[in-house]
Amino acid sequence: MSRFKAVIFDLDGVITDTAHYHYLAWKQLAESQGVHFDHAFNENLKGIDRMGSLDLILASSSRTYTPEEKLALADAKNLHYQELIATMSSKDLLPGAVEALDTVRRAGLRIGLASVSKNAFTVLERLGITDKFDYVVDAAIIARGKPDPEIFLKAARELGVAPADCLGVEDAVAGVASIKSAGMFALGIGHPFVLTEADVVITSLKEFNLAAY
Ligand code: G6P
Ligand code: MG
Repeated sequence: MSRFKAVIFDLDGVITDTAHYHYLAWKQLAESQGVHFDHAFNENLKGIDRMGSLDLILASSSRTYTPEEKLALADAKNLHYQELIATMSSKDLLPGAVEALDTVRRAGLRIGLASVSKNAFTVLERLGITDKFDYVVDAAIIARGKPDPEIFLKAARELGVAPADCLGVEDAVAGVASIKSAGMFALGIGHPFVLTEADVVITSLKEFNLAAY
């Protein structure tokens, strides 16, 4: 049914839409520092890890920040984000997500999660889908965020599958780049004009068709 042996999913924007919660938390933080923040800017942060996102926001600030100040700001944003995601439940699953996971499982492939979010385990618990994954990368042990291939290669290694036999699923430009530099097939979720490096782009997991890739 499939030429792949594993499917490795991103979380935010693929399985659930946490981008809005990240948006609210980053906006409050940016504005507390006098930095304008809108939806267009938030798009640039998709798939980028917490400190990388903070650096992009503070690049528009008129002042400079010590490493300690940056850590305090990142912690404040994260506390706010954690308050927002505390109310998440299975109703926050994106359409087609559970069906896609179940299709992959029925086809006998391994299933991994490669999110740079340090809140990924909490979000999976809230969504009630933790047990659908054979391996979830702990973002805390990843040295280089997307677009570096490290996180997808780590998932493949732990699943015991060669990168060439993996299908990676991503909604962010940086994430697709990470999949491609890992030597995997990239399924993009979004728009082909944006995800130009992806091998195939679909609008959402509602269109997921494992046999077609
Ligand atoms: C995902 C999101 C990013 C977020 C990153 C880190 O990649 O797309 O917007 O910045 O995770 O999330 P965290 O929960 O660790 O702050
Ligand atoms: Mg994403």
